[in-house]
Amino acid sequence: AETKELPTVIWLHGHECTGCDESFIRSSSPFASDVILNMIALEYDDTLAAAAGAPLEEHLHNIIQNKSGKYILAVEGGVPLEENGIYCTVGGRPFVEVLKECAKGAVAIIEYGSCAAWGGIQAAKPNPTNTVSVSSIVSGKPIIKVSGCPPIPEVMTGVIMHYALFGQIPPLDNQGRPKQFYGNRIHDTCYRRPFFDSGLFVEEFDDAGSKAGWCLYKVGCRGPQTYNSCGNLRWWNGLSYPIQSGHGCIGCSEKGFWDNDVFYKRI
Ligand code: SF4
Ligand code: SF4
Ligand code: F3S
Repeated sequence: AETKELPTVIWLHGHECTGCDESFIRSSSPFASDVILNMIALEYDDTLAAAAGAPLEEHLHNIIQNKSGKYILAVEGGVPLEENGIYCTVGGRPFVEVLKECAKGAVAIIEYGSCAAWGGIQAAKPNPTNTVSVSSIVSGKPIIKVSGCPPIPEVMTGVIMHYALFGQIPPLDNQGRPKQFYGNRIHDTCYRRPFFDSGLFVEEFDDAGSKAGWCLYKVGCRGPQTYNSCGNLRWWNGLSYPIQSGHGCIGCSEKGFWDNDVFYKRI
């Protein structure tokens, strides 16, 4: 039988925490192992690769040369620009240089996670490393924003599988995110929504409303402003998601969420 060439993927890591990789490897539908071993040719991923060091960097160089115009570039992490990008180096070079080099021959770019899509936590004010999104640095290519901190595992595999199966990027919303996964607000699919509609709100985290599972809007839930699939897909094979664990959504898939007072402060 004719064997179809698997789509080549290069996966870079910039200024980030690697939580997006951690999320990806927990995808159960499809299994991340199936994606990596049978559906794509993941030629470079510095955190998942068995090889390391100079041989791996040389392999990356060869792939960029030999597969130019054919590979998908997945990027996890923001891009620090301060002091010529020295705050994140990979293989001894500033990440921004590696990114530019790899982006040239990419057929499409996936920004995995809110770091790549919007700059992320390290871009929080006053952003000492001047970290920016991937799309602030590269342009002229189709770019898919798969935001979230991290994105849902099945969203991560779903996006790359869409490209592997159809050879094109999925339909995007006006912020560049796949409509299929970012078309609804958390608030639209929330199982606590009847409490919101009835005016039954948690006022403090240990009150009776909290124990009864009422709406978390008054304790800071950003579900009404946040587009993501957590309410319907949930996390870890449909197990749970922030709201189900008793805390409001912090809007982790939205641009600039880290500066929106969603974290606790010592007062
Ligand atoms: Fe980590 Fe969040 Fe950035 Fe992903 S988006 S690398 S989980 S900080
Ligand atoms: Fe909306 Fe949040 Fe209340 Fe759910 S908990 S209904 S997302 S405000
Ligand atoms: Fe993030 Fe909100 Fe989902 S914080 S994980 S978008 S419920």
